[in-house]
Amino acid sequence: MTLDEARQRVAALRDEINRHDERYYRQAAPEIADFDYDRLKRELADLEAAWPELAAADSPTDRVGDDRSEGFKTVRHLERMMSLDNTYSEDEVREFHARLVKLLGRDELHYVVEPKIDGLAVSLTYEKGRLVRAVTRGNGVEGDDVTANILTIASLPRALATADDIPVPDVIEIRGEVFMTLAEFRRINREREEAGDPLYANPRNLAAGTLKLLDPAEVARRRLDIVLYGRGHCEPASLLPPTQEGVHQLVRRWGLPTVEKYWHARGIDEAIAAIRELDSRRDAFAYATDGAVIKLDTLALQREAGATSKAPRWAMAYKFAAERAETELLAISIQVGRTGVLTPVAELAPVQLAGTTVSRATLHNRDEIARKDIRVGDFVRVEKAGEIIPAVIDVNLDKRQLHCVPYVFPDNCPVCGHKVVQYEGEVAVRCPNPECGAQVRRRVQHFASKACVDIEGLGEAMVDTLVDRGWVKSIPDVYRLRRDDLVTLGKSVEKSTDNLLAAIERSKTAELWRFVHGLGITHVGAAASKDLARRFRSLDALAAATRDDFIGEKKTSLIDGIGETMAAAIVGHFNEPRNRAVVAELIALGVAPTAPAQASAAGATLTGKTFVLTGTLPTLTREQATEMIESAGGKVSSSVSKKTHYVVAGEEAGSKLAKAESLGVPVLDEAALRALLAG
Ligand code: IVH
Repeated sequence: MTLDEARQRVAALRDEINRHDERYYRQAAPEIADFDYDRLKRELADLEAAWPELAAADSPTDRVGDDRSEGFKTVRHLERMMSLDNTYSEDEVREFHARLVKLLGRDELHYVVEPKIDGLAVSLTYEKGRLVRAVTRGNGVEGDDVTANILTIASLPRALATADDIPVPDVIEIRGEVFMTLAEFRRINREREEAGDPLYANPRNLAAGTLKLLDPAEVARRRLDIVLYGRGHCEPASLLPPTQEGVHQLVRRWGLPTVEKYWHARGIDEAIAAIRELDSRRDAFAYATDGAVIKLDTLALQREAGATSKAPRWAMAYKFAAERAETELLAISIQVGRTGVLTPVAELAPVQLAGTTVSRATLHNRDEIARKDIRVGDFVRVEKAGEIIPAVIDVNLDKRQLHCVPYVFPDNCPVCGHKVVQYEGEVAVRCPNPECGAQVRRRVQHFASKACVDIEGLGEAMVDTLVDRGWVKSIPDVYRLRRDDLVTLGKSVEKSTDNLLAAIERSKTAELWRFVHGLGITHVGAAASKDLARRFRSLDALAAATRDDFIGEKKTSLIDGIGETMAAAIVGHFNEPRNRAVVAELIALGVAPTAPAQASAAGATLTGKTFVLTGTLPTLTREQATEMIESAGGKVSSSVSKKTHYVVAGEEAGSKLAKAESLGVPVLDEAALRALLAG
């Protein structure tokens, strides 16, 4: 390579990395897999090392990515927040150790090996034991003040636990990672699927996007979580333990959530063994773990080793490469969702990936296919990392056949033929025809499903039939079905027809929240529907609501959990005459939803009370117990903190029970819960 060639390549790499940094850190929507990004950065670092004349002060190899975004106050960190050098090779972990041996002049070095959590870095400041601020890493020197959003995290104590033998510094920055559990990520995607919204790609991007929402009520809807693994500035510094292991122990004694497991390694061989063990165990962790972080244990030695401009010399990340497979793209099919969104799906020659056979993968949207130039007949690489849905990463161009032509995204809806549209600011391409067969089908299927009005006998196949016959063109048509028509659907169907009609009749008095959910308002899932039902108590009242019913002065949300985005979606939904007509027709057809019981005297005492359920109760399922608590005005949360009012524990209750006991939260068994509910 000549100097000129190197100069050109370096410039191209810097541009490309800057663009990916912007997508990853600021927009929480990366275009490429971590592994490919790390490779670009490595190539740039190697070129800069080989050609020192090409070094530049603003090179992306020399700084940490910048996550600062509009709308947040900027706050300076007391101690800089750094990034980590990373590798995918054990040999390079040994080289890291060899460098430290040389630098510190000693052979015997102890390390702590801990999970690398795939989230986003934050720094919490506790003053005299009270949480005063939470700030993102930003550019390492200053970051965004996200305190209001961090306060929605139920597992995070606002105050450090105190005891005579636990030191409480005047000021301490405690560092960690905000993440979303896989369970919560799946829950949200399930709700979005039901609500007809496009699915999120992976928990990390969703957590990052959520932390940067300007509306804490929306943030609270998508339970974030946090683990803390390090410290920044501390006053007085003498209160810091002498080792990283001590930092973990102190963080735990303060009652803060910390890594599930770490390893103390005496020497590099033990550290590498620990990394391997972590890899084999990480599936059981609540958060996506994309690697291990190896840190020198002794803080004094950390200080001696120092740092480069962006990363400490005393720590390194070893990343686990996600499993990938290559296979042929047989076809691209287009699904039309309830809200008309056209989602392209890759139909693949079946291939083994991370223990399962994959034959379909998401292609996200029209722009993604064009950007990656994915063509039918190509060999594509699919990856399943933290993601639940396999995704097509890229095309193996070496195997591209001449006959593969660029994919042309349809201009017309594949179901109804209507011309598709793309609204400003949206990536989704939609079929705008509300009478499109696919949309009607999905809408009615959703309405009748178990998650909504729950009409037995009106499953997906039956809805398909009714729509095909032209008997059902909208949700209210379900209540217009005629026995004479239905009995023509086959031989001896009288009994099943009567059962279906009885189930439809019964559904007229289903709980109000089921109808609210069944209407399919964008962003409104089951939990929000329950909140809305409690507040509005009838479909009419909800349909007549204005923004002022949801959002008060200074943009405060008036209904717990309903923020600006959802309020706008609800008001917008009922501004459509077609949607108002659905409500009017349902009522005219005899639909009379059951409003939630008014909080009784006992119920009133549960208003504002937070419960956590753990273990198996003798007679109640988790859903039943949740239902009982919620209908009495209480809330059920997933993790125990000082703000939890009661933990309800059954058989095989685990760490939540232990945490409740350590925080002094009252613990109830099923009988005590029933007694409390009965007042
Ligand atoms: S230590 C100066 N420990 O990974 C030390 N970082 O790729 C820097 N991360 O910016 C951080 N898990 O956001 C550390 N156990 C862990 C971590 C961790 C995740 C993140 C952190 C950091 C990034 C670097």
